[in-house]
Amino acid sequence: MQVLSRQDFQSLIAGAEILKRHHVHGECVYKTQDNKILKLYFRRQRRMLPCLSYTQTNKLIHNSKKLQRYNIPVINIERSYQYVDKSFDVAVYPYIEGVILRDLIRTDDVNVLTELAKFITKLHQHNIYFCDGHLGNYILQEDGRLGLIDMHNLRFHLTLRRRAKNLIYMFFHAADIEYTAQYGWQTFLRQYLLHASLSWWQRKQLRYYLQYYLKHKLSRVAENEKNIVLDAISALDIMK
Ligand SMILES: Nc1ncnc2c1ncn2[C@@H]1O[C@H](COP(=O)(O)OP(=O)(O)OP(=O)(O)O)[C@@H](O)[C@H]1O
Ligand SMILES: [Mg+2]
Repeated sequence: MQVLSRQDFQSLIAGAEILKRHHVHGECVYKTQDNKILKLYFRRQRRMLPCLSYTQTNKLIHNSKKLQRYNIPVINIERSYQYVDKSFDVAVYPYIEGVILRDLIRTDDVNVLTELAKFITKLHQHNIYFCDGHLGNYILQEDGRLGLIDMHNLRFHLTLRRRAKNLIYMFFHAADIEYTAQYGWQTFLRQYLLHASLSWWQRKQLRYYLQYYLKHKLSRVAENEKNIVLDAISALDIMK
């Protein structure tokens, strides 16, 4: 990976808009004047053998290539750098015109979740487990297709347990639960099952894991959101 000097980093971010600040490291996502995203991946610790380290940017590049082969809209990494003091790596990719689903469901119509249920089944059919699959990481592109913007944390190995974890993580995320609840868990689950082509036995197992993660959620959501989770547990009866 190319080494980025302090000076070159400063010229890369010159005039860029800051899109996100990390609570510890500060600015971490920029939109540059030439419509690129510049994202910083901070290293947790200095590795003993840097040559063996598989960094988050490596993962990002690997995942991006693999997802494109499955025809899944995703960011295409153009360049990556290692900052001179090795404290972070930088990935550069195009800014995608569109709207992030988290923003969309707040301002517009929650019915985009019907499309999302279908899109998640497509990911699952390719055995993709999108670990960071919250609504802030999905984008509705201008061409009307859904895509992923932030996928260094992704596995190409799926189990029924992971399917359940993925669905619950997205739908009941603290930042979105108020809005996803307006659409309704039962409606979402029906849409997912409609496209997921699961056998009777797989549905039964999925139901077990969904119940497991929902019960776990129950102890973590705010008091006024407990009813949403309790209703979601009852809604699993449609899978019987
Ligand atoms: N390629 C892109 N096209 C359009 N907008 C983007 C793109 N990449 C990032 N953004 C915007 O910047 C925000 C932060 O980006 P990103 O999700 O990569 O940061 P993050 O720190 O990983 O956030 P989180 O950890 O919450 O997922 C996104 O929510 C989105 O609004
Ligand atoms: Mg993100």
